[in-house]
Amino acid sequence: MIATLLPTYSRAPLTFEKGEGAWLIEADGRRFLDLGAGIAVNALGHANPDLVEALTQQAGQLWHTSNLYEIPQQQALADKLVANTFADTVFFTNSGTESCELAVKMARKYFYEKGAPERVEIITFSGSFHGRSSAGIAAAGSEKMTKGFGPLLPGFVHLDFGDLEALKSAINENTCAILVEPVQGEGGIRPLPDAVMKEIRALCDAQGILLILDEVQCGVGRTGKLFAHEWAGITPDIMMVAKGIGGGFPLGAVLATENAASGMTAGTHGSTYGGNPLACAVGSKVMDIVADPAFLDEVSRKAGFMRQKLEGLVASHPDIFEEVRGTGLMLGLKCKVACGNVVSAGYGAEVIVVPAADDVVRLLPPLTITDEEITEAIARLDRAATALAAA
Ligand SMILES: Cc1ncc(COP(=O)(O)O)c(C=O)c1O
Repeated sequence: MIATLLPTYSRAPLTFEKGEGAWLIEADGRRFLDLGAGIAVNALGHANPDLVEALTQQAGQLWHTSNLYEIPQQQALADKLVANTFADTVFFTNSGTESCELAVKMARKYFYEKGAPERVEIITFSGSFHGRSSAGIAAAGSEKMTKGFGPLLPGFVHLDFGDLEALKSAINENTCAILVEPVQGEGGIRPLPDAVMKEIRALCDAQGILLILDEVQCGVGRTGKLFAHEWAGITPDIMMVAKGIGGGFPLGAVLATENAASGMTAGTHGSTYGGNPLACAVGSKVMDIVADPAFLDEVSRKAGFMRQKLEGLVASHPDIFEEVRGTGLMLGLKCKVACGNVVSAGYGAEVIVVPAADDVVRLLPPLTITDEEITEAIARLDRAATALAAA
């Protein structure tokens, strides 16, 4: 008999009842160090007092009206995002997948309105992940995600990860945009080198096509900049955001330049919940904290510390780990064993890591994790690796 929860997840037998910063407390009282942060969502840790205050204050005031009316919390957050990024305008969603949907619609509408309706093709790289909607899976293109769900949304071209030569020859008169993650998350913590990011931007400029960046996982301070593309000194035309921006409350956004957004006039897109007062009250507080340069510098410092410790861990367990990957607090351990076994061994040592493609385990701790917690997390990963080697 089918489970009462649709069985699309194989869940670990863990039930967390409480969270405190970088810690998750299991129903049986065990305290787990959380290097997953709900897959890069709880950017400021669990039960962050500032976010709890922002949410509860708003919850006592007003939960939902509608985008038929002015929503001051939404306006305030949009203003903060515009003030701190390349963007001129913002649309709020409830998830990364919804941000992908709008990014695709916006790019196609741009060319439609410019008199080039044939420009619908969006180029993506292998290993990418943009959500589980029809557009999201068609964009990713992998068999794992698309098999059985056809007919797929047409108009996506898939190239090998980072293959600039293939990219140059793939662009033609039907191309609309290039859509990439500056750092692939689900794909196994694979950063696109800054030089490649610059080259992609230059290609878009030269060919008059749009650059869409998916910063759903790598954005909002995760790499030590507010958004990861800043490291390469470039800006996109359209950017997808979610996860960290809500600090655990469902919130996403699409940021765009005035030019890229020019096709999106009244009535062309909408969302019942997107940008509701609760989500935006929390998102505003997240931005106040994360956009502070001192906070971002601290993320980079801690990331350096953690990376150094992880290099030591890899050196101590050459049979289990191959290398450290990633940037900022978006790190990965490439495993020589099935990464699911490392994740399970982590549970045994009361430390949480997240599996990704390419046998990589992801380390995406809350950006507020302390040095002591990083040291403790590595000690627990060391115990996990030792147990796994002995098994
Ligand atoms: C890069 C990227 N894009 C899009 C998504 C989809 O986001 P959501 O699960 O919030 O719909 C994810 C989720 O993991 C992601 O990592």
